[in-house]
Amino acid sequence: MTPEDQALDSLTLESRLVAAARPARISDAGVNVPIELNSTYLAPGSAGYGRYGNKTWSALESAIESLECGSTLVFSSGMAAISAIFAILPRGAVVTASQNGYSGTMVLLRQAVESGALEVRYVDLSNTAEVIAALPGTTLLWLESPTNPALEVADIPGLIAAAKLQNAGVAVDNTFATPLVQQPLEMGADVVIHSLTKYIAGHSDVILGSISTKDQALYGRLADVRKINGAIPGPFEVWLALRGLRTLGVRMERAQKNALELATRLLTHPAVTRVRYPGLTTDPNHEIAKSFMKGFGAVISFDHSGGVEAADRACAASQLVAYATSLGGVESLWERRHRWSAESPTIPANLIRLSVGIEDVEDLWRDIDRALRISLGQ
Ligand SMILES: Cc1ncc(COP(=O)(O)O)c(C=O)c1O
Repeated sequence: MTPEDQALDSLTLESRLVAAARPARISDAGVNVPIELNSTYLAPGSAGYGRYGNKTWSALESAIESLECGSTLVFSSGMAAISAIFAILPRGAVVTASQNGYSGTMVLLRQAVESGALEVRYVDLSNTAEVIAALPGTTLLWLESPTNPALEVADIPGLIAAAKLQNAGVAVDNTFATPLVQQPLEMGADVVIHSLTKYIAGHSDVILGSISTKDQALYGRLADVRKINGAIPGPFEVWLALRGLRTLGVRMERAQKNALELATRLLTHPAVTRVRYPGLTTDPNHEIAKSFMKGFGAVISFDHSGGVEAADRACAASQLVAYATSLGGVESLWERRHRWSAESPTIPANLIRLSVGIEDVEDLWRDIDRALRISLGQ
C-alpha cells in the first residue's frame, strides 16, 4: 500500500471521491490525470498494447476501488461488465436472479438459458425466504438492489450470509444505490458491478461499466475476458466519468432529497395509484432498506391512474423533466417502462419510472404536477 493509499483510507467516501486518483504532487504536475491516447507502447516494457490497459482507465479504476473497496476493471458499458461475469461461469451453472431486474440483464439471462449456457431461477428478491429457498445448488446469486424499475430491495447482508452457507457466489448490481449508499463487497459479496453510465458518471454523456472484487484470482480472470473479448472503454469517456465521479457526493445528496420530497407529494396526486420508493415509510421495502442502506437512491416509480395512454401523455407533456430513458444524470428523466418490449411482464404497463435529478424541487414538482394534470385532461 502506497502512502497515498493510506491517506485515502483515512478519508470519508465523500472526500475519497474528490481526492482519489490524482497525479503525484510534484511541481508543475497537473491536478487531473491526462487522457491517454495510445493504441500501442514501445518495447521492451509491460504496457504492450492499448487493449490490455490504459493510464486513464487505471485512474478511474483506482477511484472506484477506493469507493467499493475492491480491485476494479472498467468496461465499455454496464452490459459488457455483466456479460463478462456470466462469461466466466461454467456451462450449465445455476444463476438465481430477480424475476424483474434491469431488462438488459433479463434478456442476457434468457439468451443464456436458450443457448444452454446457464440455468436461471427467477425469484422475488424482496422476499428473503423465497431467495433462500432457491439457494441450494445455486452457483451465483445475482442481486440487483434496488431493482430497476420496481425498486424492490434485497436483504443484501442476510442473503450474502445465506449464500455463503450454500457455497454460492454473490454478485451485486450496485447501479441504483451507488457505493455511497451501500458497499456490497464490505458486506461479503464476491463482485460488484456498475453501469457507470448512470450516477457515477452522472451527466448522461457516456456509456461505461465496471466490475470490482476483492478476489485477485477472479479479478485476473475478468481482466482476461476484457482483454480478449475486447469490451474496452474509450479513454475520453473514462476521463469524463472520472470528472463526473468527483461530484457524486453532492449530486446524490441533492437528488435523494428531491426524490423523497417528490415521492411524498406523488402519494396523494390524483394521477397516481401507487408510488414505489424505498425512502417512503409506507413502502414495503422501507424497513429492510433502512437496516443497511445509507440512503434510498433517487429513482421513483409510480403507476398512473389513467392507464397506458394517460401515462404516455404525461411523459410527453413535461417541459423540465425530459421524456427519455436512463437514469442517474443531473437532469430528471421519465418514461413509461413498457414502451420497451423487453420490459418484464411483472412490471405494470402503466408504470412510469422517474429518475430525479438535481434541479430545484419546486420547479420539478410544478412541471410533474402540470404534466400529470394534462394527462388526466384537467
Ligand atoms: C441496473 C442496471 N444495470 C445495468 C445496466 C446496463 O448498463 P449500460 O446501459 O451502461 O450498459 C442498466 C442500464 O440501464 C441498469 O439500469
